[in-house]
Amino acid sequence: MEVKGYGSKRVNVKTENGDLMKIEILAMLRNTETYLSGQEICNYFGVSRTAIWKHMNALKEEGYEIETLKNKGYKLVSCPDTLSNDEISSRLHTKYIGKNLVYHEETDSTNIDAKRMAEEGAPHGTLIVANMQRTGRGRRGREWQSPAGEAVYMSILLRPSFDPDKASMLTLVMALSVGKAIKSMCQEPISIKWPNDVIMNGKKVCGILTEMNAETGYIHYVVIGVGINVNTTQFQDDIEGIATSLFLETGNKVIRAELAEKIITNFELYYDIFCETEDLSKLQQEYCALLITKDCAVKVMDPKGDFQGIARGINEVGELLVEKEDGEVVKVYSGEVSVRGLYGYV
Ligand code: BTN
Repeated sequence: MEVKGYGSKRVNVKTENGDLMKIEILAMLRNTETYLSGQEICNYFGVSRTAIWKHMNALKEEGYEIETLKNKGYKLVSCPDTLSNDEISSRLHTKYIGKNLVYHEETDSTNIDAKRMAEEGAPHGTLIVANMQRTGRGRRGREWQSPAGEAVYMSILLRPSFDPDKASMLTLVMALSVGKAIKSMCQEPISIKWPNDVIMNGKKVCGILTEMNAETGYIHYVVIGVGINVNTTQFQDDIEGIATSLFLETGNKVIRAELAEKIITNFELYYDIFCETEDLSKLQQEYCALLITKDCAVKVMDPKGDFQGIARGINEVGELLVEKEDGEVVKVYSGEVSVRGLYGYV
């Protein structure tokens, strides 16, 4: 059965806490440029007009602005800034990421959730999204401040077949995905501070935490967690000087589910490209185009001794190439060192 203007495209998601019919109606509304006929939705689902009307009212109560026109049908005018399961599922057209989607209004950490689900056998591509995290975690054991309603916190569970030593490159794949998604939605320039911080106007808007469970030569699973400061207006004192949000930099509120959808879509695309060669050779150029320190002076804080040089880009395995004064190009591996621009955080 086809619904006019929508075609036979049905959302195909397994969702633990979403309403499949509502998700489909939302997806239909989104994919219809004009009006979605009430009668045709009834035929499609095999339900009464009253049932559809009830669903539309439920959506309106959740903050969706839906125009109803007699003899024409329904038209989605605007969406609330919610990160609900239905909101995300109805936007996704990915092949495998987010087909299994879990949304939490509140959770300890989406990375912890993803790891627990991985142990329980959750499939490749499982996506966990939260509106708030009680104990959000950053890199190197730091806290990731995760207040409700203003950011995106999400983790993707992957079960790759490549070697464990390649997994750290996925962090760069995610940074690229986030950078490109933000670029497509915001006017302000966006860049990446190698390896994985996404930066706007010299401050961090996104952090990525990649965790892995592996044995020699075999990955059980990888979890890539992403936190994006979207509409945040205030940060705690300790990070105020280095953290910012898309709203603070652009003055515009961003619909978080739209940003999440773009990141997930980009990530699936870039991840597939990465898997073709099991390295960054096909993504290197795009990544370097966003690299904030490209052709700039950097200081490399290396346990074996600090040095300075000019960052020239990354190679196919994600190492930062730093050209020293004597012309030697040093390959900097992210696990060992920290790199700073000579002036300030970036
Ligand atoms: C960093 O220190 O830059 C990494 C921050 C990663 C934060 C995200 S938010 C979603 C996921 N869950 C967590 O507990 N951490 C990651």
